[in-house]
Amino acid sequence: MTPLSSNLKVFSGSSHPRLAQEVCEQIGIPLGRASTKRFSNENLKIRIEENVREQDVFVVQTACPPLSEHIVELLITLDALRHASAKRVTAVIPYFPYARSDKKDEPRISISARLMADLLATSGADRVLTMDLHSPQIQGFFSIPADQLTGVPALCARLKKDDLSNTVIVAADVGEAKDAGRFAKRLELPLALIDKRRYGDDENAKPAHVIGDIAGKDCLLVDDEIATGGTLFNATEFLLERGARSVSAAVVHPVLSGKAAEKLRASRLKRLLVTNTLPIPIASLSEKIEVLSLAPQLATAIMHIHDGSSVSELFT
Ligand code: R5P
Repeated sequence: MTPLSSNLKVFSGSSHPRLAQEVCEQIGIPLGRASTKRFSNENLKIRIEENVREQDVFVVQTACPPLSEHIVELLITLDALRHASAKRVTAVIPYFPYARSDKKDEPRISISARLMADLLATSGADRVLTMDLHSPQIQGFFSIPADQLTGVPALCARLKKDDLSNTVIVAADVGEAKDAGRFAKRLELPLALIDKRRYGDDENAKPAHVIGDIAGKDCLLVDDEIATGGTLFNATEFLLERGARSVSAAVVHPVLSGKAAEKLRASRLKRLLVTNTLPIPIASLSEKIEVLSLAPQLATAIMHIHDGSSVSELFT
């Protein structure tokens, strides 16, 4: 990549150091040095171990378990950088925490995604760089600039290497219809849509209908994330029962919470293509999962932010 001015620094929280390292390798700079000490009362001390005065600093931290720990670690790091006189600090959060808590759809609950946005700004973030927000309006929660990247072009570029002659893109739920349309357009494939009904907060996401032609087809389910896997595994059975030839899935965020990894092994979902916005524990990996690195996209976006060029043009 192009040589950069020396005042760009990238630091990593403890959530996904491998991704931060890959981003640095793409940019061609060493990972910034910081140390963390945990006291017996569980307080954290984070110290930036190199000069960042007047530097353009990026901190990579994603929302994976232990989630609360990682959030607090990021907030303390941002504060440390501010007090170390960094010129500008960007929180790079590939998978945004609490993104599903984006509305007050029950009485007396928090809009936690909005709270996260406020906490980031209060802690010292001047900007946020994130990927595939659960709902695009979360961008509006920020009082600071927030750039949202998408993993869809990279997933499509990978999928184009496969034989897609009998494939139909299937949106795993109505909320995913717009993104599924992007997959269908980029891959020049037909689109079908599952009408999913969720009953309560748990895994009870049940497909009710499918709109579109899936009989005899290789269905490619697309979604922004796989959490418990309820959505994708139920959709897989639903599509196979209605005559689909095979079902695979392409998803940006591999949350893989609860028993998702185990269920994936047992499911009839043929293959799961995901990105590395979250680390996947070794025990959760299987031959069904293919992980695509988005480090090149993140590195390019960081360099564009650093030199003041357009970020949105990267994805048009
Ligand atoms: C829902 O609105 C999202 O697009 C995903 O379908 C959902 O978050 C996946 O969750 P799970 O894997 O637990 O069904």
